[in-house]
Amino acid sequence: MRRRGRKDYYYRKAKREGFRSRAAYKLIEIAERFRLFKGKESVVDLGAAPGGWLQVARVLTRGKVVGVDIQEIEPIEGVEIVKGDIRREETLEKVREIVERVDVVMCDASPNLSGVWSYDHARSIELSEHALEFAKSMLREGGSFVCKVFQGDMFNTFVEKVRSHFTHVHIFTPKASRKESAEVYVIAKGFYHPKVLPGEEYDVRVDDVSERGEGVARLDDFVVFIKGAKKGERVRCRITKVRQRYAVAKLIPDKWECPRSQ
Ligand SMILES: C[S@@+](CC[C@H](N)C(=O)[O-])C[C@H]1O[C@@H](n2cnc3c(N)ncnc32)[C@H](O)[C@@H]1O
Repeated sequence: MRRRGRKDYYYRKAKREGFRSRAAYKLIEIAERFRLFKGKESVVDLGAAPGGWLQVARVLTRGKVVGVDIQEIEPIEGVEIVKGDIRREETLEKVREIVERVDVVMCDASPNLSGVWSYDHARSIELSEHALEFAKSMLREGGSFVCKVFQGDMFNTFVEKVRSHFTHVHIFTPKASRKESAEVYVIAKGFYHPKVLPGEEYDVRVDDVSERGEGVARLDDFVVFIKGAKKGERVRCRITKVRQRYAVAKLIPDKWECPRSQ
């Protein structure tokens, strides 16, 4: 029996043009549209088997190209291969033995699909979170991150985490993605180390008010906007959103404040 979509346009094109997977055309489109490579970047590709993305990366950059997968990847000239699970620290250690810092981290890893939407989504997010942690530990300042994610209710939270480490974040569906697929690609450029992180709490002095009426506090040169905080107050706040030059925070009410006497 012929498997659904097995011999579609991109499948045949990949066979004809010598690519190991139809997925190669997704990276070609992403790389062109988002100018991912200028020619010297070093790249790590997580979830890389059978190696279509590695073949594309090998052509687009003269830098180091490293592919990681739990499955065997047939050798590709000029590409280093690491066999292992991207969720395991020992796998990432092996990558770090080959290359210390990279310019691009890509992840096209997919869990084995069960057909149960919420389960597949959760496992895809788990892989994406590991890829993001890896990118944070390996990327050079200004580097790029490309990651496949299956859409679902945890998608926005994941994208917000990406936004707190990259100046430009795009959500993109390449033409070669199958129509019925829930996959999208998060393309993030301009990696930076944020001054604060979502969830962190700070005691700050509100020393200004923004045009939108939020309290403005400063952590060194870094600006934090706090809704509901008034100029002159000392408040405790929790960071909810982080960007390169500023963060947004929520006021934490003082639990121990005595009720006012009548
Ligand atoms: C869609 S394929 C990648 C295709 C690849 N981009 C290409 O162009 O050939 C997804 C890959 O993710 C890998 N994968 C899934 N979970 C993984 C994990 N935890 N660690 C490493 N690889 C994983 C699978 O083995 C599979 O080879």
